[in-house]
Amino acid sequence: MEVIIEKTYEQMSIAAAQEVAIILNAKPNSVLGMATGSTPLGVYQQLVKLHKEQGLDFSQVTTFNLDEYVGLPTDHPQSYHHFMHENFFKHVNIPLQNIYIPSGTTSNYRAFCQWFEQRIRECGGIDLQILGIGSDGHIAFNEPSSSLSSRTRLKTLAQSTIEDNSRFFDRPEDVPIYAITMGVGTIMEADRIILLASGEKKADAIAKAVEGPVTSMITASALQMHAKSRVYLDTAAASKLQMRNYYDWINENKPGAPQV
Ligand code: PGA
Repeated sequence: MEVIIEKTYEQMSIAAAQEVAIILNAKPNSVLGMATGSTPLGVYQQLVKLHKEQGLDFSQVTTFNLDEYVGLPTDHPQSYHHFMHENFFKHVNIPLQNIYIPSGTTSNYRAFCQWFEQRIRECGGIDLQILGIGSDGHIAFNEPSSSLSSRTRLKTLAQSTIEDNSRFFDRPEDVPIYAITMGVGTIMEADRIILLASGEKKADAIAKAVEGPVTSMITASALQMHAKSRVYLDTAAASKLQMRNYYDWINENKPGAPQV
């Protein structure tokens, strides 16, 4: 697990977007795992900028989103379908048929989840998965006690997550209490993973995920077991890490290491 600490949210977003761009330039038909929430917005803005100003090409890209609220139709303003189209997809050139987002309104959730997993496999697996982290340490909607080998499935949201996400809804009781989400096991099969966190509110979850034990109580801690995971933080999100100086030392000296 590499820990990269940038001074600001914007610098963190630029650094993470650069990693996505390097991967897309090396493999134009990459499969990207997308996340919703406030945190990845900066990365999406940077990627849109790279697309518009430098021609970063998404025409062969396929995407799979992590999760969706159960019961919200695709055009609901708080659905993750709507979020992704408004904040990212409509600004770049990913073919619509290459975009996969879990359905919040399927008539058969179990069958849908199996199909979603199968589509990921048929597309060759996820090359790069982008993640945020919940204040309870969740990745996607894998709430505390989710199995670290879980697959795409229905989950009941934690009360703390419902509270965190109520800022987007008119009334707290409007927040759905169920979601369909990729599992931790699904996420861990991605070739590379980047986890983004910004702000003081995430500092505890980040300290536990990065420096605590691997535990299903903090599902982000599973990334410690992933060979190519990178955590991008701003200073506030990094403020409770014990080994801050060590991460900075590694990052300062890494460029000088022999390349072969
Ligand atoms: P946020 O959500 O980026 O809106 O804080 C992160 C998450 O819950 O995964």
